[in-house]
Amino acid sequence: MGDADTTTNAFDLDLPVIGPELRELPRSESTEQLRTLATDHWIVRNQLGFAILDYDDVTAILRDKRWHNAVAKIPEMMGITDPEILNRPPSILAAEGDVHTRLRRLVAKAFSPRNADALRPFMRDVVNELIDPVAAAGRVDIAVDICEPYPIPIICELLGAPREDWQSFSRWAEDVLRIFNGTAADEMEVIGKAQLELKEYVIDMIEARRSDPRDDLITHLIAAEEEGDRLSTEELVTMVNAVIVGGTDTTRNQLGCALSVFAAHPDQWRLLGEQPDLAPKAVEECMRYFGAIRGTGRFASEDIVYRDILFPAGTFVFPSLDAANSDSGVTDDGTRHFDITREPVKGRGQMTFGSGIHYCLGASLARAELQEALPILARRMPDLAVDGTITWKPTTSAIFGPDHFPATFTPA
Ligand code: HEM
Repeated sequence: MGDADTTTNAFDLDLPVIGPELRELPRSESTEQLRTLATDHWIVRNQLGFAILDYDDVTAILRDKRWHNAVAKIPEMMGITDPEILNRPPSILAAEGDVHTRLRRLVAKAFSPRNADALRPFMRDVVNELIDPVAAAGRVDIAVDICEPYPIPIICELLGAPREDWQSFSRWAEDVLRIFNGTAADEMEVIGKAQLELKEYVIDMIEARRSDPRDDLITHLIAAEEEGDRLSTEELVTMVNAVIVGGTDTTRNQLGCALSVFAAHPDQWRLLGEQPDLAPKAVEECMRYFGAIRGTGRFASEDIVYRDILFPAGTFVFPSLDAANSDSGVTDDGTRHFDITREPVKGRGQMTFGSGIHYCLGASLARAELQEALPILARRMPDLAVDGTITWKPTTSAIFGPDHFPATFTPA
């Protein structure tokens, strides 16, 4: 607890209130409003608690282990009471403290940049295979034809699942992801069925890899398991679930957001096509300028005093990655325009992968996927232009991106 004389209870502060209507605005408008608010307020009230808008405060809160991940509260908030579901071991995203440290230490090596780099040739093949059928016509629905199918083969290749199982993975991923829909309580049967099928599949894979190890994620995770007290089979299954939940919709939507930005900035698209080695910078810039994940949630695991404000135990805060990314301190010249040649500012990188202990485990893989896809698309689809209108997911979606993105291009 802080000094009682200078500490104010967060709920007694006189703060601007942002309502649900802000999240319902078109994305660029809501970002603009947050940015305007952020010039005078690092914190504002929202429906469930407080939104955090300043880059440094977003980072500080995400790095403070007393704030626990709000995903752990999702089943409870959705009214799910089934003890079988509530008592499962937490996924890495919902785990905290020693439990999280142990899980993260065990799996970190399997998600190293080296392992992600090994998949780059495969990623290039997948992108090219997706472009081939639409190349002749010069017309494409970027969201449906390119972004949607892109991550599944890569996750399968990462895990070591063969091509004939891509379809099943695609369906499991879609159903398991319904947990974030807001209507999850009604869809628990579908979600549970997909989780069970996936579990059976992964258990079979684990058995197969125990007798026939390969260079894939399942084998790496088993190896971690066998060095002492290590991942149990149930934890392995939960981890694979986390990889599917964390690694499919994120990547496909981030690719869609990035391509929409390029369609609006043809000069930058041309530049990337001509200079593919700009890809790493281009990916950071796309994720800063238009991140697929606009924010995350934390709750106070105990009474927390931060900046002389008391946040009572249980208080929810929502660090806005979107507002943090639009902080002028995140770009080399303090401007916000889209420029893929920007030098990243040391220590103030884009925030779309989060920060602190839950920093995206798949960041190296996601970066590799985007760095490989974008320059190939820029080369094979020069003069990419929106053909009609892009339809977007509801702006309230946790992971945001285009549902339909009709486009034309002159095939190269
Ligand atoms: C562009 C694509 C991606 C974006 C924007 C993204 C974003 C994020 C963010 C913001 C978090 C932290 C959430 C929080 O603090 O509440 C996170 C965590 C995580 N991500 Fe990603 N992610 C992406 C791709 C991936 C991929 C490809 C994988 C797996 C292969 C993955 C697996 C995970 C996992 C397992 C966590 C939880 C880590 C932990 O709690 O320690 N993500 N991601």
